[in-house]
Amino acid sequence: MKSLTIDHLTPLQKTLLITLNGRVVDGARSRPLLGDTKAAELAGGIDYDLGTVKLTSGVPEAVAIRSAMLDRAVESFVRGHSGAVVVELGCGLETRRSRLTSRDDPIWRDVDWYDVDFPEVIELRDALMPPPDRAHSVGVSLLDPSWTETIPADRPAVIVADGVLGFLSEEENRQVLGRITDHFAEGLLVFNAYTKFTARMNGRFTKVVGMPEDFRGFGIADPKEIVALNPALTFIDEQFGDAAPERDRLNLAYRLLARVFAKWRGQARRGVWIVRYRF
Ligand SMILES: C[S@@+](CC[C@H](N)C(=O)[O-])C[C@H]1O[C@@H](n2cnc3c(N)ncnc32)[C@H](O)[C@@H]1O
Repeated sequence: MKSLTIDHLTPLQKTLLITLNGRVVDGARSRPLLGDTKAAELAGGIDYDLGTVKLTSGVPEAVAIRSAMLDRAVESFVRGHSGAVVVELGCGLETRRSRLTSRDDPIWRDVDWYDVDFPEVIELRDALMPPPDRAHSVGVSLLDPSWTETIPADRPAVIVADGVLGFLSEEENRQVLGRITDHFAEGLLVFNAYTKFTARMNGRFTKVVGMPEDFRGFGIADPKEIVALNPALTFIDEQFGDAAPERDRLNLAYRLLARVFAKWRGQARRGVWIVRYRF
């Protein structure tokens, strides 16, 4: 595979390297939590030393568990809704589609998959991973309301956002959430949330790709705050990485911590925190 330069990407766009590297590190382990092999293949196609994208302890585990939890949410929606569309917001170089559809389950046959990110990111993604049948790239910022234009509105839709809404301001989140419920007739929104505390740390985790260290992301104290931003959403539930089945494959120290944190909601929300809404 040729090696593509990514110098032109902004620091915000380069945050995709953090989650990509998380999946690469996980995939290289003898007992991976997610076991995504495509991530390493993609990493090999870009001219960037991923070794400089240092991940602090526990981050590869968090990225892998978060991906696995979101995979399950998408799969369970598709299983219950024939002819669904999957919409991946801020897709970066996420490989959820290949992870899920490679299992060769007939439920994926009629599913159309839409990957949305900035034009520069989509250009890179398409060059590394040309979209197969029924996969569609949308190179439009989520802050441009036209991002929904090419996506069918009348099919059941699962909107999945992994590590993106936390980079938008509260007002921008209101705008994106409004666009979702204005456009799609019915569906599920599932994403990883951050507490206000973890959102304040965002810059510290992302400065490795050039984000300002004092960057503060978007965080919530309670999932109902999302409903306050868009009353057309109905809160379904919240799920914690500390209680996910992958937890049992963590090393002993993390496993014990996860067992304790799973019982302590305030702390569990500071880890991998997945929230689901119906619309
Ligand atoms: C931390 S990365 C996560 C990427 C991917 N979801 C994953 O899990 O690997 C954040 C992604 O959100 C994208 N993003 C941030 N703001 C965006 C916006 N306004 N419109 C579209 N994409 C955006 C970035 O370009 C980047 O690809």
